[in-house]
Amino acid sequence: MGEPEIDLRGVRVRPGFIEAGAQAAMLADLREVARAAPVMRPVTRRGPMSVRMTSAGRLGWVADRRGYRYEATHPETGAPWPPIPESVLAVWRAVAGVQVDPDSCLVNLYREGAKMGMHQDRDEGDFGFPVVSISLGDEALFRVGSVEKGGKTTSLWLRSGDVAVMGGAARLVHHGIDRVKEGSSVLIPGGGRINVTLRVVR
Ligand code: SIN
Ligand code: FE2
Repeated sequence: MGEPEIDLRGVRVRPGFIEAGAQAAMLADLREVARAAPVMRPVTRRGPMSVRMTSAGRLGWVADRRGYRYEATHPETGAPWPPIPESVLAVWRAVAGVQVDPDSCLVNLYREGAKMGMHQDRDEGDFGFPVVSISLGDEALFRVGSVEKGGKTTSLWLRSGDVAVMGGAARLVHHGIDRVKEGSSVLIPGGGRINVTLRVVR
């Protein structure tokens, strides 16, 4: 079950929670998700995002020029999102500490140079449930601030197999990915990093 938990400004990080064999199995499941629901490059009002995305579950998180929202179908194919893989649900059930399964599984793909600016996860209807975030592939510098915008931040390298839980007082903290260390993992063919974010949307 990996190393001791780290408290990163209230975000609970479990280093090495997913062992190597389980990471590979999860990656294979996520490939199936991407086959059914092709990865897209969201273009927001601020321009194209550097991270590519797709989703699984009842609802997928969609970003475009109109804003951010959850939708029941893939914007390009019009098909419902594929189910959340069991390998992913197992991690949620082990760490979320709630009896409810997530409605949404966002899959973020970071290829060379991709990053994610500081933001809050606040498009959900109920902040009583935690956000669970899984890292696969290359290491990423994860920065955590406060619920309020600005102020002090602390960062930590997330490695393949690490799981972070943003819940309770840390449910709405600002967070982002400053950069990804290319070639720091061999898990993903062609390199890069995948982040899987699980949320109850309601
Ligand atoms: C996110 O906050 O949406 C992604 C975080 C990560 O990639 O680890
Ligand atoms: Fe986020």
